[in-house]
Amino acid sequence: MSSNKSGQITVVGANMIDLIAYVPRFLNVGETLHGTEFQMGYGGKGANQAVMAAKLGSKVVMVTKIGEDVFGSGTRENLEKYGIDTTFVLSTSKAFSGVAPIAVVPEGQNEIVIVSGANNLLTTSEIDAVRDQIAKSAYLVCQLEIDLALTLHALRVARSVGTPTILNPAPAVESLPPEIYELTDIFCPNETETAILTGLKIDSVASAEIAAHELLSRGVKTVLITLGENGCLIVNSEGAIHIPADKVKVVDTTGAGDAFVGALAHFLALGLTLKNAATRAVKVASISVQGKGTQSSFPERSAIPAEILAT
Ligand code: RIB
Repeated sequence: MSSNKSGQITVVGANMIDLIAYVPRFLNVGETLHGTEFQMGYGGKGANQAVMAAKLGSKVVMVTKIGEDVFGSGTRENLEKYGIDTTFVLSTSKAFSGVAPIAVVPEGQNEIVIVSGANNLLTTSEIDAVRDQIAKSAYLVCQLEIDLALTLHALRVARSVGTPTILNPAPAVESLPPEIYELTDIFCPNETETAILTGLKIDSVASAEIAAHELLSRGVKTVLITLGENGCLIVNSEGAIHIPADKVKVVDTTGAGDAFVGALAHFLALGLTLKNAATRAVKVASISVQGKGTQSSFPERSAIPAEILAT
C-alpha cells in the first residue's frame, strides 16, 4: 500500500512521562520490591511513534494535549528537539500531563500503567482544526491511549479527506465500536492485543493468521500483527506474509511496538510497499529492544544500517 500524498505523517495520540523501574521480577499483589535502576523519559505511544518517524526523517505533526506542568513543557521541548510540528500540542490547566509507571524485568519484558490525564482533554473540535494537516498527510497514525471517541473522530476526519489510517489498538480493549475497524486501513496490534480483541489464543504464526482473518472480517483492510522476536505477520485480501526478525540480545522491549509503528509509517509515507516497509520496521524495532528506555532506545539514522534506509 502506498499513499500518493506528501510524505507528512500526522499522529493523533497520547504523550506520557515514562517512570521506568528495572526490577528483578514482576511484583505479586501487595508486595514491595527493590528495583535495581530507575529511568525517566518521554513516552506515550502517540509521541513515541511520532518520534520514531521523525528520527527516521519524516515530517511529523503531533496532535496531543499536555498539562501546564513541568512534564508538559518537557514533552513539548522533546518533540521540538526531533523537529516535530508542535502547533497542535495543546495544553490544559485542568489535568496533569500523562504519566506511565513501568516495570521492566531482566528478560526485557514490561508491565505498564498509564494515567492519560491531560491527553483525554483533547476535544473533537481541536481535532477538526487539524483537518487540513490530516488532508495533506500520507498517513494518519492513531492508538488507543486517548479517549476512544477522540480516536474515532480522528479516523473519521482522515476518511473524509481520503487519508489512509494506521491504528495501533494499544492498550487493547475487549470490544471496539465496529466503525473503528471500518475506518482503519492498517490495523496493527501485537499478539496480546490481538488475543484480547479476538478472544483467540495467539501462540504461533498460524494462530495469529486465524485471528487476523477474524479482524479482517470486522472491516479493516489490512491486519499487521507484531509478533515480538518472531517479527510480524501481514494479512489482507492478497494473502498472508510472515516477516521474521533477526535474533538479537533483548535488553528492554518498552516501546518496541511504537518503534515499529513509527518506522512503518515513515517507510510507507516514502512510498514503499507494505511488505518492504514492514520488513524495515521489524529491523528498526529489533535495534530498539537492544537499548534501555523508550524513545532513548529508538535508533538515530546514523545507527541504522544503510540498506534499511535506502530508497
Ligand atoms: O508503548 C510504550 C509506551 O506505553 C510507553 O512509552 C508508555 O508511556 C506507554 O504509553
